[in-house]
Amino acid sequence: MARDSYMNVQVGVDYYPEHWDESLWEPDVKLMKESGVRVVRVAEFAWSRLEPSEGDFQFGWLDRAIGLFHKYGLLVVIGTPTATPPRWLTHDYPDVLPVFADGRIFHEGVRGHRCYNSASLRKYGNRMIDRLARHYSSHPAVIGWQTDNEFGMLDCHCDSCNNAFRTWVKGKYGSLENVNEAWGTVVWSGEYSVWEQLTVPYGGSPHQNPSLLLDFQRFQWEAVADFQKAQIDILRTVCPEHFITHNFHSYPQRLNLYPVGEELDVAAFDYYPNTSPAKQSTTPYSGALSLDLTRGIKRQNFWIMEQLSGSPVCWMPMWRTPYPGFIRAYAWQAIARGADTVVHFRWRSAAAGAEQFWHGLIDHSNVPGRRFAEFTQFAGEVNQLSDLLKGTVLKNEAAILNSHEQLVALDIQPQVENMDYYENIKQYHRVLTKLGIGCDVINWREALDGYKVVIAPSLYLMDEEAAAGFEAFAAEGGTLILTNRSGVKHMNNVAVMQQLPGLLSHAAGVRVDEYDPIGTEPHSIVDEEGTAYACSQWNDLLTPVTAEPIAWYGDDFYAGIPAVTVNRFGKGQVYYFGTHAEESYWSGLLEGVAEKEGLLRFAGLPEGVQASVRSGESGSFLFLLNLSRQPQAVPLSRRYSSVLDGGERSGELALAPYGVEILKL
Ligand code: GAL
Ligand code: ZN
Repeated sequence: MARDSYMNVQVGVDYYPEHWDESLWEPDVKLMKESGVRVVRVAEFAWSRLEPSEGDFQFGWLDRAIGLFHKYGLLVVIGTPTATPPRWLTHDYPDVLPVFADGRIFHEGVRGHRCYNSASLRKYGNRMIDRLARHYSSHPAVIGWQTDNEFGMLDCHCDSCNNAFRTWVKGKYGSLENVNEAWGTVVWSGEYSVWEQLTVPYGGSPHQNPSLLLDFQRFQWEAVADFQKAQIDILRTVCPEHFITHNFHSYPQRLNLYPVGEELDVAAFDYYPNTSPAKQSTTPYSGALSLDLTRGIKRQNFWIMEQLSGSPVCWMPMWRTPYPGFIRAYAWQAIARGADTVVHFRWRSAAAGAEQFWHGLIDHSNVPGRRFAEFTQFAGEVNQLSDLLKGTVLKNEAAILNSHEQLVALDIQPQVENMDYYENIKQYHRVLTKLGIGCDVINWREALDGYKVVIAPSLYLMDEEAAAGFEAFAAEGGTLILTNRSGVKHMNNVAVMQQLPGLLSHAAGVRVDEYDPIGTEPHSIVDEEGTAYACSQWNDLLTPVTAEPIAWYGDDFYAGIPAVTVNRFGKGQVYYFGTHAEESYWSGLLEGVAEKEGLLRFAGLPEGVQASVRSGESGSFLFLLNLSRQPQAVPLSRRYSSVLDGGERSGELALAPYGVEILKL
């Protein structure tokens, strides 16, 4: 199988042969085949079965399972099992276990108990991967690998991390004088005089030097990427025909996804949209953002490695069972936003272990029910459209910038109650999605060519290179939207001694004379028409330098002072939001910008309905998804044909609750 086989549009399941009596395997695989499953992920937690004791490799059981998948024509992705080191390993080599800031050990018993800098984990993990890779490199069913499982930030304070962090800081700054200078350690007598004094931030106080805390995060990002790189190096050498992916999960993540994604062929996401009726006004939109963000990791299509199949539990009280249509509609939402393969978690609910009630497609009874029937319908539809959709991608003209550096810096020093970097991104994304404007979510350091409109929330840390990039984007005709808490700090997390927005002042054409962290207090702004809107979180009191005001504060001692401005800059313009305005203000503003800039837009979407377009050589396909419990009607501007049933659609398109339509453009 060629390495680009990840581009196939198909459906899969997560399966744990090691959880089940072997007599169940063949009936399971047979039913997978019949239900339209094409790919299966296995083994990501199976280390204790693959190597029951040190050096005793037992791949026979996995050979038999993979042999069965092959017999039924199913393809296999193998997970490297490093997220669950077995007990013999942690017992004999305790440096595998992470250590919390207060010295407590992250014990075995759940999963994820692995320090990325542990020499033993790397040694035994890489040996396992080498064995697995050699064993399966030419197996006809095996197409790819998932590294580890759901990388995340551990803030490990073990000796290995301590030493590695010191080396990392040395490499970055060269000398202790430079460290002292860059971090401003003179404050509170924190200066280092010999390297041994420099440690990971023991004790875990969030009020330690913010520059140290930010660099500790950056160090961990590199550690995760480096840990993964060692696995990838083995896999690339031994299995050059296989692709490599990793399953990211639940955003926002402090982990910087971009360097981890860089080495992969394809990114994957574990998608568990909330089934609770109370969440149905927000879930479709936060889910859309998660999918767009995942597509942005590599700026290409992606996989869903775990897709919701039933009521989840274990980490929280049980959610509602998915409403009829929910499983299918949310799986289609993933494809609509760029997923090529959707793998459902999991085939059958576990009968043992902590996640017994994290429901799979099939319940413990092993009697396929309503959820399974819905999944089968979805799989059938995907198989029918697979060739048509293969190679199609989303092409958007708007982007929102996402930065893990800004996120963690704002986390280290929360600016004000009620201000949340990712929640603000959610709002801007939701507004665009409701307006029917497709949007990419990309790393803030990416080139912005090709976008007409870019929203860059709270660029709190800034350097000259990034500022020049933003200026160039606007100068060449782009519309850049900046918000408060921009240009506040240098990249080492110390404040700039300039009027804000610091390095972005020229582009914004505005000066922040004073600011008022208002948090949850209700305040207002008034636009040019005299309409008042609520604002919250933060109020920058603005003096336009070259910009024009377009909204003013409506109250407090700064009533009448500019709150939102726009600056003509070269061929483009830069908006500056001094405050966090309510959704309807953003909606009006972005609608106007979209019109002015001629953004592609599917207007008239009812609440809960989302539109997106995938296009390629086979054509362009418009996805219309009703992610709500109410029937909805979508006005169509012309006649279309449905690729789901070949029928004609025009006028008002009726979408049932969780209804899905795919039209040929
Ligand atoms: C994911 C994980 C799966 C399973 C699922 C449900 O985070 O990768 O193995 O645990 O969540 O909790
Ligand atoms: Zn560690």
